[in-house]
Amino acid sequence: MDRATLLAELETARQRTRALITSLPEDKLDVPYHPGVNPPLWEMGHAAFFYEVFVFNLLDGTTSYDPAMDELWDSFHIDHKDRWRRDLFPGREETLAYFDTIYDRVAARIKTKTLTDRELYLYRYSIFHQNMHIESIIWCRQTIGYPAVPDFQPERVAPGEPGNDQTRADAVIPAGRWLIGMPGESEAFAHEDFAFDNEKPRFEIELPAFAISRLPVSNREFMA
Ligand SMILES: [Fe+2]
Repeated sequence: MDRATLLAELETARQRTRALITSLPEDKLDVPYHPGVNPPLWEMGHAAFFYEVFVFNLLDGTTSYDPAMDELWDSFHIDHKDRWRRDLFPGREETLAYFDTIYDRVAARIKTKTLTDRELYLYRYSIFHQNMHIESIIWCRQTIGYPAVPDFQPERVAPGEPGNDQTRADAVIPAGRWLIGMPGESEAFAHEDFAFDNEKPRFEIELPAFAISRLPVSNREFMA
């Protein structure tokens, strides 16, 4: 993967997160407590903090933007209920400013420093982590009853479009022994490949025949 592609992935994650936050007025960001979601502003600050830990601290030993906030943005440290405490966290504009500052620093680092396999892995690790939180902001919005997504859609073929039948048809997987997961640390790992640690090492498993959608399905399709 080259720097331009990596920067494009970073920018997409930034814009999607911003769109999910800035399309709501500040008072709507104070979502009621729910055990299955996180407050959207906490998700945004937490995702920015993740780059601080896994890019700047790990690679450069840089201390964080605001060390007093470290434990508050860290999901291992802060209790879930405390993520709703307004007295602990900055408001929308301040959180956006923090988020943009970190993104600008990551983009500058990608442009100017070496891009070793380790660095590429950590950038992508942080971007994919961000993408998971984009998904969880969307499910928060759906849980609360807000419009789910502002102006971006998953890349998919809409029902009725040319080529749709082929794309929409389920993939039919025959019964057999299949290799699941990605190569472990002891095996050769291509520069372009990415996997989270819980997808490694791969293993063989015997599976009965099954069918699976080639694309993510909507709630309506799932119900049908
Ligand atoms: Fe996270």
